[in-house]
Amino acid sequence: MSAMDVVKVGRQDDVAVVTLNNAPVNALSHAVRSALQAAFHEADRDDAIRAIVLAANGKVFCAGADISEFDQPPRAPLLPDLLAFMDTLAKPVVAAVGGAALGGGCELALACDARIATPSAGFGLPEVKLGLLPGAGGTQRLPRLIGAAAALEMMTGGEPRKAEEALALGIADRIATPQDLLAEAAALARQVAGEGRRRLSARGMDAGALPGFEEKAAVLVNKHEDADEIAAIIASIRNSFGTDFAAACREEQALFQKLRQGARSKALRYAFFAERRSAHVEGVSPKPEKPIETVAVIGGGTMGSGIAMSFANAGFPVTLIETDEEGAARAQERVGATYDISVRRGSLSAEDKTQRMARISFKAGLDHAAGADLVIEAAFEDMGVKRDIFGRLDAVARPDAVLATNTSYLDVEAIAGFTARPQQVLGMHFFSPANVMRLVEVVRTGKTSPEALARTLAAARALGKLPVVVGVCHGFVGNRMLARRSEQVDRMLLEGATPAQIDAVLTRFGFRMGPCAMGDMAGLDISWRMRKATGRRAPVADALCEAGRFGQKTGAGYYAYPQGARQGVEDPEALKLMEAVSAREGVARRILDDQEVLERLVYPMIDEGARILAEGIAARASDIDVIWLHGYNWPRGLGGPMHYAGEVGPDLIAERLDAYAEQTGDASLRPFERLGEMVGKK
Ligand code: 3HC
Repeated sequence: MSAMDVVKVGRQDDVAVVTLNNAPVNALSHAVRSALQAAFHEADRDDAIRAIVLAANGKVFCAGADISEFDQPPRAPLLPDLLAFMDTLAKPVVAAVGGAALGGGCELALACDARIATPSAGFGLPEVKLGLLPGAGGTQRLPRLIGAAAALEMMTGGEPRKAEEALALGIADRIATPQDLLAEAAALARQVAGEGRRRLSARGMDAGALPGFEEKAAVLVNKHEDADEIAAIIASIRNSFGTDFAAACREEQALFQKLRQGARSKALRYAFFAERRSAHVEGVSPKPEKPIETVAVIGGGTMGSGIAMSFANAGFPVTLIETDEEGAARAQERVGATYDISVRRGSLSAEDKTQRMARISFKAGLDHAAGADLVIEAAFEDMGVKRDIFGRLDAVARPDAVLATNTSYLDVEAIAGFTARPQQVLGMHFFSPANVMRLVEVVRTGKTSPEALARTLAAARALGKLPVVVGVCHGFVGNRMLARRSEQVDRMLLEGATPAQIDAVLTRFGFRMGPCAMGDMAGLDISWRMRKATGRRAPVADALCEAGRFGQKTGAGYYAYPQGARQGVEDPEALKLMEAVSAREGVARRILDDQEVLERLVYPMIDEGARILAEGIAARASDIDVIWLHGYNWPRGLGGPMHYAGEVGPDLIAERLDAYAEQTGDASLRPFERLGEMVGKK
């Protein structure tokens, strides 16, 4: 496609129609900006033209700046230059917005004289999610249009406003049906041409726009201390009160460029593309030949119920299967109770609850899986149980059904072998709570067919989940890397660190919770049982469990939880117990500094990530990062463990791991020889 094709120019009598034509989302790349400028210039010079309509092809009006250009030096015309140029036109421009106008796309619409939207259109400034502020006059034009407080909310929240709401706020001037959009926009453009341009840049900032702004700003500053983009948004909106428009825009641009070059925005942009890249799986079509329409879930426990709810929430008919009638009734109660929590909180209406419940049939007996396109087994983590279920499913399920296991650790290859159709078997590792968490590790075996994978990925995406394809190994990607961190937690507690120190180091790093508090919340007995079954040891965690300290539920774990408290307090008893274990194991206790604690928590995980990539268990380093961002709450501003490794430098990481291996005698800390090569694997 030639550069000019990204913008098309047509006419409706005396109105020029300039149409964005840059699939898939009309991002404002350098070519688009140049072409828009040329098109506006031409129309302005043409005596036969009275006014201009800005429209767009495709579902999205405009997704804003082309984010992939942000890693390169900016190229003129910059978006703010283009919008400033629009202000110099003699003729008005009216935006005909038939889809989402986001970021620079919204700013482009704001630089027009008026905006007409279809009911499905939306306006939003999501730059904040990329660690940026709107950088094309948005912090100046929007406050002039809707007031500073409302503009602040839109820019710091980042969520778009639907057409009706945009109309009420004053962002959209009118709503039109998709059929009438262009004609109405042309009519309005002619009207404005008769009355005179309505440039927001020429409008003064009304003092009446101030109420509520400073109060809201103070709350936000408090809440987001570390987010420079929030402070920048506030500062830039404040500039709209006094300084002249052009000067305030220059200041906005300077703030934007500074944030763009910073590590935080770089990581957030990386995360944006990593999430989208994970959807592209080599050899697997994004559109399956036969999409999944009906689902059966086996096992009505916490996981199975959550999975069934995810499907019901997205409109799929689901059969939730238990072994007997009592089990089915219990599952029904569990699902109903979980929905009730949302109804009580006001996030779900009673009517929606009824509809969602009606999509789930609660049944006893595997025979009820017979009609399903996708059967997901969420029973006990026991190979005997899986063998029995998959053997029987093989006889019951439709010949073309996809059979998935929700195992977290077990060998999916072996499970596939319990059927005569291993090409249709795969793992769907949901994260708990399954109706909330977006991540699903989709585990493909050596035999899983591309169509079974395509159907599963499309179904997961239809639920609003983020499926990431991984290969078969113990713990797949996420839990396998987590195991390396857990080993070091135990090891460092043995050497003299405290649970409070370890947790504080990780929460300061950006995690919402540290591993010890997390273990106490989940229950330490779960992994204890698993270690016993597999003959592994974690001397400190084992000792806590042997002393009956299973975490919050027993009132004590790494911490104490007096009187059922949910927040643990440091417990001298636990520390005494750890000292005794150190003595028994012959490990001399010492003070570990926080840097060592952080590096020994994070670097072994990165090392494991590199091994996972070398084995082909994950296809790309960015897939690992998506798993950690969405399954384990890795701080988004740090991109993910592999992105972080690239920032720190793999050579330094290998050097530190070697040094810790030397110092502690723990050979598991020796770095993988291909660490550097794997960290940025694309
Ligand atoms: N720049 C470059 N590529 C973009 C893009 C953008 N702004 N927005 C989307 N894309 C790409 C995606 O990477 C994806 O590429 P792929 O097909 O190769 O994987 C493709 O477009 C389709 O995107 P989605 O899969 O996300 O499509 P959806 O239909 O699910 O969603 C959307 C569409 C809601 C527009 C979503 O893409 C989105 O939220 N985009 C980003 C919006 C945004 O953050 N805009 C602000 C940019 S910063 C800015 O404008 C600065 C300004 O103030 C100066």
